[in-house]
Amino acid sequence: MSRILITSALPYINGIKHLGNLAGSMLPADVYARFQRSRGREVLFVCATDEHGTPAELAAAAAGQDVVTYCREQHDLQRTVAEGFGLSWDWFGRSSSPQNARLTQHFAGVLEDNGYIEERTDRLVYSIDDARFLPDRYIEGTCPICGSPGARGDQCDSCNSLLDPIDLIDPVSVISRSRNLEVRETRHLYLLQSRLQEQIRAWVDSRPEFPALARSIANKHLDEGLIDRGITRDLVWGVPVARDGKPRAGFENKVFYVWFDAPIEYVAATEEWADALGGDWRRWWRTDAGADDVRYVEFMGKDNVAFHTVSFPATILGSGEPWKTVDLLKAFNWLNWYGGKFSTSQQRGVFMDTALEILPPDAWRWYLTANSPEHSDSAFTWEQLTAAVNRDLADVLGNFVNRILKFNETRFGGVVPEGGETGPLEVALQAQVAARIGDLTDQFEAIEVRKSAQALRALWVLGNEYLQEAAPWTAIKTDPARAAVIVRTAINLVGLYARVSAPVIPFAAEAMAAAVGEAWPPVWPTADSPAELARIPAGRAVAAPPVLFRKIEEADVAAWTARFGGAA
Ligand code: 2FM
Ligand code: ZN
Repeated sequence: MSRILITSALPYINGIKHLGNLAGSMLPADVYARFQRSRGREVLFVCATDEHGTPAELAAAAAGQDVVTYCREQHDLQRTVAEGFGLSWDWFGRSSSPQNARLTQHFAGVLEDNGYIEERTDRLVYSIDDARFLPDRYIEGTCPICGSPGARGDQCDSCNSLLDPIDLIDPVSVISRSRNLEVRETRHLYLLQSRLQEQIRAWVDSRPEFPALARSIANKHLDEGLIDRGITRDLVWGVPVARDGKPRAGFENKVFYVWFDAPIEYVAATEEWADALGGDWRRWWRTDAGADDVRYVEFMGKDNVAFHTVSFPATILGSGEPWKTVDLLKAFNWLNWYGGKFSTSQQRGVFMDTALEILPPDAWRWYLTANSPEHSDSAFTWEQLTAAVNRDLADVLGNFVNRILKFNETRFGGVVPEGGETGPLEVALQAQVAARIGDLTDQFEAIEVRKSAQALRALWVLGNEYLQEAAPWTAIKTDPARAAVIVRTAINLVGLYARVSAPVIPFAAEAMAAAVGEAWPPVWPTADSPAELARIPAGRAVAAPPVLFRKIEEADVAAWTARFGGAA
């Protein structure tokens, strides 16, 4: 497969995301996209803000803004922060786009034609003082299961139960704090997932590449039996319930449920990209337009897996149309924050904007890759962050690059030296480099995030080991030709490190490439390590880059602990 479609879960519009969101979807997706581009594959990497539903409406109200303005501003903020982290989306769309409205209405239409949607009467909480229904997070009360106050209509954060708003004890409107509430009947559309159960199970079984986490979540839901799901809400902000431009009778004041339209935005974001930049979105999504050649990889946190292995496939498969479905679903566990969770609503942890105020993006990218919450939850600690930056980036990689390029400046005038023959040390290095590149390539291909970081670090370590053994500072005194070979080989390692490190630490990699005059964007190395270690020719002017990685001091950690919390 030479074409790869990559999506990372769409971040909610309600504020800047925390490091857990970054580590569990956006960052690993970006690393994979950058790796595959450098392999010469045609990559389309899309994401978007998830803008509908009660979280958006409530956050806008809390900010004192109308929801349209709020979403536009927050989308721009999220884009700016993402750029700061080097997230290389080909398109960062918006689920409130006209493309998504059209596609969402299209899917609902064909699902209904195929007998998978029906209208049902629901009993929902109505606020007399607000003159509206109170879906999902518009209502709060005491949890009927654990008795905690402040449970939201759809979920209790204390016991993590999913709730039905009419079961809340002592409910109150989040809008007006009114308790003047009653249960009223209202009509809604239901997606009949129960009728698609066997089709979805067969589809899951036909995805051999699903890792264990994704497969086990899908099977749990299938084994419990799929339930039909309400896909409309009594809200104003969202995709209108209409078909071919005509509102559905009785649904004039309703919209589709946010989790119905959000995954469709993966397709719609591709259409937004095509409309803006002149691509062909069908080639990526319709198997009748060539998408059979596409390998589609999704990245997300584990809380999103059910929606992507059951609900979204129900939409796609139920349509009976030739849509591309996901081949590999890479799911992540949680990044925890000092015994608890990162939390957007409680503003606990470090967020993407403030993270960039204290450290450069590559420091975070490296730390969150090396300590990815991949096969189990992982804990954020300032100590681990310090170790990752100081030991791996500064002591191992940064020190090697700086040491050899400075030595070349003082001894060879900053020009790659010529002369000399490669000896046994170089032959041994070539063999080790070939093996390590092979391992790194395999780990990146398999999206084994932590193992990729380990393999990359192992490659960096080779440079220091080589310099230690070859000792150009000694050779220069007795055998300048030998020193020239060592320096030339080590400078080639710098060029190689720029290329293989680029998926994870693109900013430092670009600085390293520039330092040794290597082309950018990077091209992934071949297994021909003798050639790879002789790309940078003698005679080229090279220069040590400005400090690649500043070390974290104890005083930094003290200041950050005071600012963000978290203590050993
Ligand atoms: O959990 C979340 O953050 C959701 N906004 C993810 C949506 S992913 C996709 F389906 F749109
Ligand atoms: Zn509870």
